[in-house]
Amino acid sequence: MSIKNLGYLVVQSTDLSKWDDYGTNVIGMMKSSSMADNGSVYLKMDQRPFRYQVIEGPFDGLLYCGWDAGNEADFNALLEKLSAKGTAFEKIEDAAVLAERSVSGLVRLADPSGNQMELYWSTDAQSNDGVAFESSLDVKEFVTVGDDGSDMGLGHVVLNAPTDFEGVHAFYQDLGFTDSDVTNMDDKGLGHIYFMHCGARHHSVAIWNWGGPCPETNFQPSPESKAPGCGHVMSEVRSLSEVGQCLDRVNEREIMVVSSLGEHINDEMYSFYHLTPGNFAMEFGYNGIQLDEKWETTHNTEASHWGHKWQG
Ligand SMILES: [Fe+2]
Repeated sequence: MSIKNLGYLVVQSTDLSKWDDYGTNVIGMMKSSSMADNGSVYLKMDQRPFRYQVIEGPFDGLLYCGWDAGNEADFNALLEKLSAKGTAFEKIEDAAVLAERSVSGLVRLADPSGNQMELYWSTDAQSNDGVAFESSLDVKEFVTVGDDGSDMGLGHVVLNAPTDFEGVHAFYQDLGFTDSDVTNMDDKGLGHIYFMHCGARHHSVAIWNWGGPCPETNFQPSPESKAPGCGHVMSEVRSLSEVGQCLDRVNEREIMVVSSLGEHINDEMYSFYHLTPGNFAMEFGYNGIQLDEKWETTHNTEASHWGHKWQG
C-alpha cells in the first residue's frame, strides 16, 4: 500500500491575517467557503475543501504534512504495514479533529528525524466540496491533477532530516514512496537529497540531510517546534507568465526572494522561491515533469541548469 499524494498542510501561525492575505493576494489561493468556522484560515487550490489549514499558535511553522492514503481499506493496510515495522502512530478519533480536516480516518506520526505528519483517508464528498476554484488573481489553476487524471496533491514538500537520514529514507519507502532522483551535493558542502514520488508528480517529498537552519531561508525552526524544519513547499501553475506575475507581487510587497528564477535539472521546473509567513520558503513554478511506472531513478550533483541563485 502506498500514500497517494500530499493532500494538505497544517501550518501554525502567530498571526492568521498574514496567511489570509499571503495565500489569497500573493499566491492566488481561494478562501474556503465549505469548512465550518473553527478559527482556522482554510485555503483552497482546487476541488478539495482546502489544501492549507492555518491555525493560530505560539510559533510560525509547518505542523503537519497531510498524506492521503486513498480509501479506508488502503489506509488500514498501510497502518498494518506500519505496525508490522514497529512504527508508532497515534490514532486520532476526536470527531472534531476529523471534521477540521474533512477526513474519516486519521493517524499522526513522525519520521525518524522528527518531521510530523498525518495519514488520512476521506470520502469523495469530504475530498470535493463542489465549489469550483476561482482565484481573485491571474492564477487560472494550480496543477494538482496529473495528465493521467490522478490527484497529484497540492505540490511537494522538502524536509530537513538531520538525524538518521537513511532511516528517514527507509521510512518513506515503507509508506510507498520511490526515489525519482538522488542529488548528491556533498562536494559543495550542500548535502544529499532524496526526491521521492508516490504518483505522477516527479516528487511529493524530498528529504535533505541538513542539520542547520533551513538552507532556503536561513531560519532555524523554533525551539517549540518538534520538527527539524521544512525547507520549502511547492505550488505549480500552468505558465511562465503566472510565475512571473507572482514574482511581481512578491517584489511589490518586498517579500524576501530566497532564490532567483531558475530551471531545475531533475523535475525540469521553472521556478523561484520566496519566504512565506510560515518561516519556510514557497517554490512557485511551472513545467514539472510527470512520471510513469517505467521511470528509472536519476542521479545528479547539481540542482539547476541555470538560475536558482540563493540569496543571503
Ligand atoms: Fe522544490
